[in-house]
Amino acid sequence: MFPTMSTLDPARAALIRRLPKVELHLHIEGTLEPELMFALAHKHGVALPYASVEEVRAAYKFDDLQSFLDLYYAGCDVLRDREDFRALAAAYFERAAADNLVHAELFFDPQTHTVRGVAMATILDGLHDAMAEARTKYGITSALILCFLRHLPEADALATLEAALPYRDKFIGVGLDSGEQHNPPSKFVRVFEKARAAKLHIVAHAGEEGPAAYIREALTLLGAERIDHGVRCDEDPELVNELALSQVPLTVCPLSNKALRVTPDLSTHNFAKLLRAGLAVTINSDDPAYFGGYITENYLQTAEALNLTAEELVTVAENGVRGAFIASEEKDALLGKIRDAASDI
Ligand code: ADE
Ligand code: ZN
Repeated sequence: MFPTMSTLDPARAALIRRLPKVELHLHIEGTLEPELMFALAHKHGVALPYASVEEVRAAYKFDDLQSFLDLYYAGCDVLRDREDFRALAAAYFERAAADNLVHAELFFDPQTHTVRGVAMATILDGLHDAMAEARTKYGITSALILCFLRHLPEADALATLEAALPYRDKFIGVGLDSGEQHNPPSKFVRVFEKARAAKLHIVAHAGEEGPAAYIREALTLLGAERIDHGVRCDEDPELVNELALSQVPLTVCPLSNKALRVTPDLSTHNFAKLLRAGLAVTINSDDPAYFGGYITENYLQTAEALNLTAEELVTVAENGVRGAFIASEEKDALLGKIRDAASDI
């Protein structure tokens, strides 16, 4: 299922590679490459339902979000101790550095791990070990966003928030992920209210497979500051206008949308339409180990399929910086770096 690599013209490809980029929508568990999955399975004596790395990759053919989530949650079973979480994130940062990534806000799904007996502190400590290394080794800044699994009851999300609040300094926000259909944001009003009271940033997956109405709910009922995916806003022209006016960022993941058949093909993706309508759209990689490309590959293939201009690519990179949960001085510094990288276009 892995897409052919991009054949974008050299000038735009070089611009994409040298642009400092920000990742606002990446599930750290979705960076678990088959090689590491096998190594950790061996370490812990876990039997995988695959004979080889190639067999794992061959299984990555998805019909929809749920068919992916089934494999993704199964893969997480090999993540057991602090060093596993460190190794997972360290492998991600090594790839991110090669992609000229400067800042990442990483989702993690604690319920996937705590249900197997992994402690909240184990997850957070392991991820923070790698985040500290990435800052020293590559100059990449990063932060964590705790996501609630929306297919589970709100009571589970409330218990998860309670378990996480003693480590409040180790994450900056909360999000909502997993199977979207029939699990509207309205199901989680109380837990997001508690999260806002704890001064956490708020994001939510909405309008990936679910209707535009879920985007409105995420904004009005949960207080979402960014919408993850959000591509189905297109079904509600008034919402599109409102998103253009409010500049609430949409963290779009083109290769994910293609792999999970949110769009039949990248050439039919509405990313360029939304960008040209003035929405604050960004390009991100979601679960790159499963969808065939990290952030640079997402930019390259989207630019090629939708014929994004050099100026538009710079706008997308700037949107990522503006949408990040970082101080305005840090934003100004990163916007300056983007301007430098784009000075000759
Ligand atoms: N968890 C990991 N990736 C996801 C996605 N694309 N949508 C919802 N939940 C997810
Ligand atoms: Zn996602």
